[in-house]
Amino acid sequence: MILCHCAVVSDADVDAAVAAGARSLRQVQRATDCGLVCGGCVFAVKAHLSSRLAATNGYDDEVVEDAAG
Ligand code: FES
Repeated sequence: MILCHCAVVSDADVDAAVAAGARSLRQVQRATDCGLVCGGCVFAVKAHLSSRLAATNGYDDEVVEDAAG
């Protein structure tokens, strides 16, 4: 499923970024360029990232929230 249409970033791309060590929205953005054009996908990317991190025991509310700012 495409999460970011501007940069054509899928949920699998975000999962790959997490697998490569991304633990925050900002780190996912650096890895994929998602959310850097219109910003309309940021909530969906953040929700997917939080879900993915929770599933891999890497969830950290503060890291995810700090990176959104
Ligand atoms: S949909 Fe992601 S930046 Fe526009």
